[in-house]
Amino acid sequence: MVSAGQQAGTGGYGSLNGSMQTFLSEVRKDLEQGVLSPRVLNDPELHRAELDRIFTKCWVFVGHVSEIPHPGDYVLRYIGEDQFILVRDEQGEIQLLMNNCVHRASPVCRAEKGNTSHFRCPYHGWIYKNSGEWNGAPFRAKAYRKLDASRWGLRKASQVDSYQGLIFACLDPDAVPLREYLGDMCWYLDVLFGLNEQGMRAAGDPHRWVVPANWKSGAENFVGDAYHVQSAHRSLEDIGLIPDISGAVTGNFHIAIEGGHGLIASPAFLPEPQYGIMDYPPEVTSIFDLSGFGPDQREFLESRYTIVGFTIFPNLSLIKTASSTVPGQPPVTFTCLRQWQPRGPEEFELWNWPLVWNAAPPEFNEASYEASVMGFSPSGVFEQDDTVVWRGGPMVGRSPFARRDMKLNFEMGLDGMSDYKSNPDWIGPGEATNSSFGERNQRRWWQRWSEVLASS
Ligand code: FES
Ligand SMILES: [Fe+2]
Repeated sequence: MVSAGQQAGTGGYGSLNGSMQTFLSEVRKDLEQGVLSPRVLNDPELHRAELDRIFTKCWVFVGHVSEIPHPGDYVLRYIGEDQFILVRDEQGEIQLLMNNCVHRASPVCRAEKGNTSHFRCPYHGWIYKNSGEWNGAPFRAKAYRKLDASRWGLRKASQVDSYQGLIFACLDPDAVPLREYLGDMCWYLDVLFGLNEQGMRAAGDPHRWVVPANWKSGAENFVGDAYHVQSAHRSLEDIGLIPDISGAVTGNFHIAIEGGHGLIASPAFLPEPQYGIMDYPPEVTSIFDLSGFGPDQREFLESRYTIVGFTIFPNLSLIKTASSTVPGQPPVTFTCLRQWQPRGPEEFELWNWPLVWNAAPPEFNEASYEASVMGFSPSGVFEQDDTVVWRGGPMVGRSPFARRDMKLNFEMGLDGMSDYKSNPDWIGPGEATNSSFGERNQRRWWQRWSEVLASS
């Protein structure tokens, strides 16, 4: 018999009505013309469809392996708006368990993190192993003599896997494996996280805060929007933290990856010899070992390219850049994973994980963490600029006047609008461009969004 846990992910996704299907096909046609309806940034019906379809079908990031290194370690996480326990069980396997008792649905775990061999539901006291299996109940011999324990474990994600330390889960048992889902993103995850065999770790708990905007504004920004930096983040030049904010834009280019994923890449922007591979200083590059990389990955690294940001569809992004914490001080390179967690159509929770190298000097890791907090965190100087401007999405989305016929402009890079074009000589996988004065990555992200929503 199939256990309750194993049933997770089967069943329907809810059907889209005809008007929604018509709207999504209009979205796809609009994107080819370089426009997009603002309805996508606040509509409750679309939001429900995203939870029903995007977050139940796609591989979604749920944490970093360094957050649960030992058997029994757990943290609470979300897929869409559902809460799960990400836990390493007694066998060392990573499990993603729905945090709701199968008796009356009470959350069985109320601590954000910890270590435990079992979860005991506070309502009637049912007990589950940290692998999710049903393990007992008070007065079992009197109350549940014939209960089939194999059927009443916590519900589990159908698939859990990791790549380069990043743990993803998928609620669809029929979805392709993680590596296939990531596709050519793996090549770039290798050059980001595979530089040292001890890898990176989360520098403490993720920062979390609520932003009054739609989650897709963050995902779309990090998949390709290098253009906003010269305007939204202009004040960083004004206060002396970034010497040439326009220069920080012009060197960027895009890489579009099949599946709605995309990156912003760039030639390394910090000077040699103080900085080397991926803009790290010598005390960090000295721990790097390129011997396991393929020739094209080595060329990428030795030619001093770097990755500034990415989005893995649907809602995981990365920022990797450098900044000073004090004007006039040398910039320090930092890396953060960030996730755009939906909380209704007009609000999202931003989760941010600064990462540090396990083998790097502690002084560098400390400086890198501080630089990341200065730039990207609840008090980050970049962050506040972004989260303020994204507020506009729900405002026009709910406006009857705007929704009558307003379209947002996604034309940059289309039909001679700029010199933005493909670079067939790019050394890595994916479709690279010669600049970031275009919006191909963003249009593809939205195309993917509309396709997954519309698929059965
Ligand atoms: S709701 Fe969990 S034991 Fe009853
Ligand atoms: Fe930004």
